[in-house]
Amino acid sequence: MPDLNEKEMRSYWDAKITDWASSSYEELPRGPIQKFMAGLRRSVHARAVIALEVLKPHIEGKSVLDLGCGNGHFLKGCLELGASRVIGTDIAPQAIELAQQLAVKNGYADRSEFVVANVADGSFPEADFTTGFGLIDWLEEDECMAMLKGLSGRKVCFSYSEADGSFDEIIHYFYLIKRLQWFGGGVRAYHHKRDEIQRRFKETGFGEMEVVVRKEMRFGRLVHNLDK
Ligand SMILES: C[S@@+](CC[C@H](N)C(=O)[O-])C[C@H]1O[C@@H](n2cnc3c(N)ncnc32)[C@H](O)[C@@H]1O
Repeated sequence: MPDLNEKEMRSYWDAKITDWASSSYEELPRGPIQKFMAGLRRSVHARAVIALEVLKPHIEGKSVLDLGCGNGHFLKGCLELGASRVIGTDIAPQAIELAQQLAVKNGYADRSEFVVANVADGSFPEADFTTGFGLIDWLEEDECMAMLKGLSGRKVCFSYSEADGSFDEIIHYFYLIKRLQWFGGGVRAYHHKRDEIQRRFKETGFGEMEVVVRKEMRFGRLVHNLDK
């Protein structure tokens, strides 16, 4: 039986992922609130573009596992850069459905696999690179540590939202994080200090990680060990 947080997280993303993915990667904004939110989501788009830049020198002929893959947008980019095979996992069946549809639509279903799974289970399919974007923000500390322990020794690239005190970060904190806490039932999300992220990777055997800061990602950061 999934625990309360897993069930709530699944229903939360099942209901949200279709709109979230299309407003992050496709649609132009409509009304003023959507415009404001889409402005924030431009940084989600930028995050995928920058993560592909980081992976590009390493990816030719390699396999990529993307955890919390959403609609699979990032894995499509990996194949376009020369990855041989991609695997996506997500807690939300609706996300997996979207990722499968994107694979069929773009003709790479035979080079991809998509599976419903919770990263907190800590066991993962083999792949040359493991990634996860917009995922760490949604994990409780024990879930994050279980995931990182299960990935120890791998080449990884994750994003996280940094508690950097910027205007955008504070707005996002109150809009999303506090709103979820007040009205969202059991679903929680987090911003992190950089030290805290480094500590989690160190304690799970990764050592010091490289952190990518780019203004297009606003308070979003990439953390990786691809060049080690
Ligand atoms: C902000 S979205 C990001 C989606 C995708 N990575 C992207 O950047 O477009 C977060 C994704 O993480 C998934 N997720 C949240 N908690 C998860 C967990 N414990 N295990 C697996 N996936 C999870 C959600 O279902 C959702 O698809």
